[in-house]
Amino acid sequence: MTHILCIGAGYVGGPTMAVIAKHCPQHRITVVDVNRQRIDAWNSDQLPIYEPGLKEVVEQARGRNLFFTADDIEQHIDQSEIIFVSVNTPTKSFGQGAGRAADLQYWEKTARQILENSTSPKIIIEKSTLPVRTAEAMAHILNTNPNGLHFDVLSNPEFLAEGNAIENLEHPDRVLIGGHDTPSAQAAVQTIVELYANWVPRDRIITTNLWSSELSKLVANAFLAQRISSINAISALCEKTGADVSEVAYAIGTDSRIGPKFLNASVGFGGSCFKKDILNLVYLCEQHNLPEVAEYWEQVLKINEYQGARFVANMVHAMFNTLAGKRIALFGAAFKANTSDTRESPALAVCRELLAEHADLALCDPYALENARQDLGALARKVTFELDPYRAADAAHAIAVLTEWADFAALDYQRIFQSMAHPAFIFDGRNILDHKALFEMGFNVYAVGKAPRLHFNDIGK
Ligand code: NAD
Ligand code: UGA
Repeated sequence: MTHILCIGAGYVGGPTMAVIAKHCPQHRITVVDVNRQRIDAWNSDQLPIYEPGLKEVVEQARGRNLFFTADDIEQHIDQSEIIFVSVNTPTKSFGQGAGRAADLQYWEKTARQILENSTSPKIIIEKSTLPVRTAEAMAHILNTNPNGLHFDVLSNPEFLAEGNAIENLEHPDRVLIGGHDTPSAQAAVQTIVELYANWVPRDRIITTNLWSSELSKLVANAFLAQRISSINAISALCEKTGADVSEVAYAIGTDSRIGPKFLNASVGFGGSCFKKDILNLVYLCEQHNLPEVAEYWEQVLKINEYQGARFVANMVHAMFNTLAGKRIALFGAAFKANTSDTRESPALAVCRELLAEHADLALCDPYALENARQDLGALARKVTFELDPYRAADAAHAIAVLTEWADFAALDYQRIFQSMAHPAFIFDGRNILDHKALFEMGFNVYAVGKAPRLHFNDIGK
């Protein structure tokens, strides 16, 4: 039996370790966190995050070979042969690199904590997303210890997407493990390969050098975000020319070299990682004196901000240039469907902009309202939080669809139309609704990257 520890019981640490525990009953997996409330939730029926299939996996392994605890972290460090570090690595908000560089304080504290509490050699695995060459700093801290202990630092970035975490962990496109080309590091890499080989086909386990592994994680997120910004940039052109962005996406996506995924035009991408990881990449390029490369990737973020601002500007313009006092139902708070996560959610960015226009907002989401309330802080008291979309839309002048929850596409819009103030507007920021049918019901329909369907002449256009 191997003792495996994971430091950080968040969106990555919790689900990842649950799946490892499920497939490796021969090993004992402990997940620790300084946040006791989070640990208590992991040990309860109300897990701290919503993720389809997660509860079943946790319940299968918890208490058998999967343990969540906030106690005796020092002792767990000492007892473990393998330690995954999955702590948060947000964007730095102070000092050098503020607003761009990764804040590595939690990461470094963890390294020192491991060092202070170890009496035996260990394999340390970077699970968090980190700037390329962070493992070097980690190895320096760990291996300059007075008692001659040796630590092998590996990179094993996580590629799961929220809302799909269990499916992604059960059937990953690939598992990436990076290590130095030394006998000790390569033996450590093999240990981790064997761990994943308990359920992942071996041809999907890729091993690389340490720096390639670290950089690949940032690059994967940058490429994914770049596709969204590319199609969103084209959506603006579609709205001006009468082309339909869904048709354009389909037409280009059938080219096998381009592929169909991640081409849904939207109100913008959100989530805790795309923005922070691109900022991190931009900062790295600047540090290495590559300003043209930095500027290229920064543009992905600029288009994303432009897309959200454009969406709100379209709403203001469509609704006769004033939203003050008008009730607007916002369908969606989560940054995407199937998650309760609202970090960097474009829905909340739109919400803030509309509040600045003095709109009267009813925010509706099946799972993310509590997180939205916390994120909005003082602004929350200006918003009505509503679980029921019919009530949210009651007497509203407009609906804006901001998260692609399937439930929102399946509503009775005839009933909704009748309960709304008229003329009734619908702004589909995710292109999940049947726009033709809505128009025929009487709605004025605006959808991202499509010509508006209006019951009056849009004089200002
Ligand atoms: P998170 O904020 O949900 O969880 C991190 C946890 O680490 C927190 O609960 C925090 O209390 C804990 N922590 C911090 N310092 C600690 C310490 N010294 N000891 C014990 N616990 C400590 O973050 P997350 O979303 O799970 O992301 C973790 C990392 O994984 C980040 O680098 C992120 O970029 C990366 N990542 C995230 C996702 C995702 O979908 N969220 C996907 C892939 C990679
Ligand atoms: C993303 C990556 O997909 C994961 O591989 C990665 O591990 C993770 O970031 C991370 O490093 O944290 P995630 O942020 O959970 O995962 O969600 P995505 O499915 O990638 O969606 C991100 C955002 O893009 C969402 O707001 C989503 O609505 C938006 N999106 C996605 C679009 O607007 N259009 C699309 O076609 C696809």
